[in-house]
Amino acid sequence: MSSRIPSREVARQLDVEILTLFPEVFDSFLRTSLLGKAIENGIVRVHRTSPRDYAQGRHRQVDDAPYGGGPGMILRPEPVAAAIEAAEGEPGRCYRLLLSPSGRLFDQALARELAGRGRLLLICGRYEGIDQRVADLFADETVSIGDYVLAGGEMAAAVVIEAVARLLPGVLGCGESADDESFSAGRLEYPQWTRPATFRGLAVPEVLLSGNHAQVAQWRRSESLRRTEARRPDLLLRHPLSDDEKALRDGGSAKRRRK
Ligand code: ADE
Repeated sequence: MSSRIPSREVARQLDVEILTLFPEVFDSFLRTSLLGKAIENGIVRVHRTSPRDYAQGRHRQVDDAPYGGGPGMILRPEPVAAAIEAAEGEPGRCYRLLLSPSGRLFDQALARELAGRGRLLLICGRYEGIDQRVADLFADETVSIGDYVLAGGEMAAAVVIEAVARLLPGVLGCGESADDESFSAGRLEYPQWTRPATFRGLAVPEVLLSGNHAQVAQWRRSESLRRTEARRPDLLLRHPLSDDEKALRDGGSAKRRRK
C-alpha cells in the first residue's frame, strides 16, 4: 500500500487509465459537460484498455469458474495483469484502484487525496468478481462507491473520475468552488432556490430575498445543520458541532420540515 499524501495538495493535471471489458460505456460520459471540457482543455486525460485485448486463445476468454465452486464466472488474473502493464507503459506506475463492492468506501476525503495523485489506474471488475491476486499484486486500494452491488465497476469508475476531476484547478467554472459544498466540512449543503419567487404555491424563503448577506449566511448554516442532523447523523458523530453551531441550532431558526 502506498503512503497517504496530504489531502490538500491537488495536481494540475489528471491522467486516468481505465481497465474495462466495456470501454464504450464511457463514450458519452467523457464527452459531456464539465469533464468533456476538461478533457478538451487537456486538464484531464482518460485512456481505456480492455483486458480482452490481452487474453490468450482463439476465443480470448477472460473469465473462468471459481475454484471451490459457486455461481458465476471470475475474471482471470493474466489478461488483467497484461492490460495493466500495457496501460501504464512508458510514463510508468499509476496509483491503482480496484473498484469492488468489498472495498473501502469512497468519500470526499478520498476524492481530494486522489486529486493529488496525478495519475490513476481504475480496474473495473465484472461478472461475479475478479481473481484475488489482482488485488494482492496490483491494487494500491480496493474502493467501493456504496453499499450496493453493481453489475461491474464501470459506473463506480465514472463516479470516481467525476468526483476527482472537478477538484482540479480550471475544471469548475469560475465562481464555482469545490469547497463550499456538501461534505467538505462534514455538513450537507443548504437548499437553494432560483426564479420564480413563487412556484406552484411554494414561495422562496423571505430571508433570501432580504439582501441582508449576514442573515442569509447564518440562515444557510442553520439549514445545512438541520439537514445534516435529519439525514446524516453519522456525519455529526464524525464532525461534532462547534460551539457556534450549537448556538445556531439552539436559536432554532428553521422550523418547517423540508424533504
Ligand atoms: N462493482 C460492483 N459494485 C460496486 C460498488 N458498489 N462499488 C465499486 N465497484 C463496484
